[in-house]
Amino acid sequence: MGRREKNIVGLDIGSTKVCTLIAAVRGGTQRNQLENGLEPVGLGVAESKGLKRGAIVNLEAAVESIKKSVHEAETMAGCEVETVYVGLSGPHVRSFNSRGVTPIPTRSREIDSEDVRRVIETARAVALAPDREIIHILPQEFIVDDQDGIGDPLGMFGTRLEVNVHIVTSSTTAAQNIITAVNRSGLLVGDTVLEPIAAGEAILTEDEKELGSVLVDIGGGKTNLAIYHHGGVRHTVVVPLGGELFTNDIAVGLRTSIPEAEWLKREQGCAVSSMADNDKVFEVAGVGSRHPRAVAQSVLSDILQPRAEEIVHLVRNEIRAAGYERQAGAGVVLTGGGAMLRGFVELAEDILDMPVRIGTSTGFGESLLEKTPQLMGPEFATVTGLVLYGERRRKTHDFHENSNSGFKKFVSKFRSLL
Ligand SMILES: Nc1ncnc2c1ncn2[C@@H]1O[C@H](COP(=O)(O)OP(=O)(O)OP(=O)(O)O)[C@@H](O)[C@H]1O
Ligand SMILES: [Mg+2]
Repeated sequence: MGRREKNIVGLDIGSTKVCTLIAAVRGGTQRNQLENGLEPVGLGVAESKGLKRGAIVNLEAAVESIKKSVHEAETMAGCEVETVYVGLSGPHVRSFNSRGVTPIPTRSREIDSEDVRRVIETARAVALAPDREIIHILPQEFIVDDQDGIGDPLGMFGTRLEVNVHIVTSSTTAAQNIITAVNRSGLLVGDTVLEPIAAGEAILTEDEKELGSVLVDIGGGKTNLAIYHHGGVRHTVVVPLGGELFTNDIAVGLRTSIPEAEWLKREQGCAVSSMADNDKVFEVAGVGSRHPRAVAQSVLSDILQPRAEEIVHLVRNEIRAAGYERQAGAGVVLTGGGAMLRGFVELAEDILDMPVRIGTSTGFGESLLEKTPQLMGPEFATVTGLVLYGERRRKTHDFHENSNSGFKKFVSKFRSLL
């Protein structure tokens, strides 16, 4: 039982895979330990079933996938999972920025945690449709009188306190279905976390968040985007396009099966036609009784490039619409399995006119490489980020336990997110 409590578990219920990561929280200075004391001890990956673009379409099938992935992770870790941090994403997620203002009632006194709580309450007081719920309120900056760009206003003097926040909402039913699937798998939900926010925890450096960067997670069924600037989340959006579309395009274009198309994409695919090798010819199995055919790599690229361009153009439109085309100084960080398509980085750099890199998880030190090297792949950024998010929450909770002020708890949660 004691061992269970010391684990932080991330559960990424993706469109193509369901992934569970168990990390042990260790103190002290033993070898193989991370600075934050997290060590991955169990990883389980199962094929995702019963989900479509982040929403449950078959509860039984989804529960089976979750159970399979959790069981695999538990077997590897030699412990039982109880509570998980679950990723949430899909077209049902919407987000917007809001501002809250509150006067500091008595003149010449320090801003305290109650003022911060009150100002955040005013920022969240927006009219929401009855079928929507708030899943994140992420403070971007505080403003004391006319001084903006303040990360932590506690202890400052002022007469008026303002806050800019990013609010993420979800359809209540879609979120509830995910929670139900997790509960039916015999697990408790510690928190639901927007997937790109979790991925950002794992792959973006503090400098990138400060300078301005765009995180683009290209999964199987969707592309998640989060824009960071001055250390805070400025914009998030989920686009229902992902790597599965490339596979479908190949299957249709080359008249082959989905598994064959998937294999071709990974092994021979290239997002830029000019990078493809014209002389490279490979055999493609036909469907049914059709004979295999010889196909040049450039033909495959001609199929992939328009789809890759479509995704990058959508990303560019989102960056423009949010007004961060010139402010994302650190550029774009790609993650998710779809980002591994050869030539995608080059194509994105060309269209976006920004530096682009593939992001892999940090924060787990050498132990990650030794025990679970596959976690360094971009498709695992969300699950590692969920664990890091959970760890941050745990530390905040410890702070709560030591604090006798309810308001202090509330503030510490938001401050930790800043
Ligand atoms: N080497 C590769 N080249 C091209 N595509 C790849 C490669 N490896 C994986 N993919 C694609 O990545 C996608 C899966 O990515 P990922 O595991 O991040 O998705 P997911 O988290 O399950 O889905 P989502 O985030 O959309 O819910 C699949 O479409 C797969 O074909
Ligand atoms: Mg994903």
